[in-house]
Amino acid sequence: MLKIAENIYWTGYIDWNLRNFHGYSTPSGSTYNAYLILDEQPTLIDTVKHYGFEEILYRIKEIIDPSKIKYIISNHTEMDHSGSIEKLLSICPNAQIVCSPKGEEGLKRHFKKNWNFKVVNSGNTLNIGRRNLKFFLMPMVHWPDSMATYSIEDNILFPNDAFGQHYASSERFADEVGIDVVVKEATKYYANIVMPYGGQVLKALEALKDVKIDMICPSHGLIWRKKEDIEKILSLYKKWANYETGKSIVIVYDTMWHSTEMIAQTLYEFIDCENIPVKLYNLQNTHISDIIAEIISAKVVMVGSPILNNKVLPNMGAFLTYLKGLKPKNRYAFTFGSYGWAKVGFKELEDSLKEAGMELISEGRYLNYVPDDTELEGLKDIVGKIKNLFEMKPAFFQGNPQEK
Ligand code: FEO
Repeated sequence: MLKIAENIYWTGYIDWNLRNFHGYSTPSGSTYNAYLILDEQPTLIDTVKHYGFEEILYRIKEIIDPSKIKYIISNHTEMDHSGSIEKLLSICPNAQIVCSPKGEEGLKRHFKKNWNFKVVNSGNTLNIGRRNLKFFLMPMVHWPDSMATYSIEDNILFPNDAFGQHYASSERFADEVGIDVVVKEATKYYANIVMPYGGQVLKALEALKDVKIDMICPSHGLIWRKKEDIEKILSLYKKWANYETGKSIVIVYDTMWHSTEMIAQTLYEFIDCENIPVKLYNLQNTHISDIIAEIISAKVVMVGSPILNNKVLPNMGAFLTYLKGLKPKNRYAFTFGSYGWAKVGFKELEDSLKEAGMELISEGRYLNYVPDDTELEGLKDIVGKIKNLFEMKPAFFQGNPQEK
């Protein structure tokens, strides 16, 4: 039994073995957090994935008779949080489902049941005895139905997916695990789940700006309870929602006979010699969700592929599809690659990056078959353009990068 505040308990499910969350790699697993508030009207905030039902039931039974639950708040319809509602309702059939208007629509579509819904809107409150719960609709953070529940008397925010992390642990609080680990996981979570919705995140942050928050209890991962940790994650969300980046570069490529890899490696060396932070990823070895977690802080993304049957390689096609959906705005891009007899596939590369919201810093550099030394040396002018972008000294360095 885990008490997180007076009469408030964590009753979630730890998914130690989860390794893929709809395409997002989860090497550390995840948790689906549910919270039980004991009051005159016992209230459960969210449930867990369907296969975690026995665990949530066990945890609730440690605290109260589950049939006494009066309200089940569904902050978000996605089934990692709503998947156990139906089974729970078989135990507490008189419970009301509290959700947003879009939540009601979504739950009806998912479960084909006309449950006893109590629909709430932003600013509405629900008295559950000693406490009053206030609701903040947060459409598209990250579904149309998403909302946060706030316990006014406890100053605790239950924002569902927002501020969450896919991280399984026996600890429940961020400060028990270590802020660096939790921020890294929260960064990956934002980049892969929330990034397209910066405008909506800013609206949610604005609505919460005068709300006193002593604890943030997300629906995945660890709870934020230390003042400085709460301030940190709120300020990071503001930064990410504004699409702010550092002056760093991510190079992403796939390769067939190592020619594109040669270009990627040469770009990396020239950039590194300029002491510009740069990371290099081969799509054959790195999951796209890990690369996106790096792109969130990068100002320039360099993307390379060889051409196969007039197209980019399949790994690159998947990456570009993912990137176009996530739309990491306010960034620059550069394309490169090797080709044999047709360059037509590179247009797909360029168009995809533009569709992802990026601005190309120059024409792509496409080299025939195997690059020679002169062609590789010619890549230095691209690094010069990046230095100008970063408002560093305009003159490009001279000499061999290995000598720097
Ligand atoms: Fe954790 Fe959008 O579900």
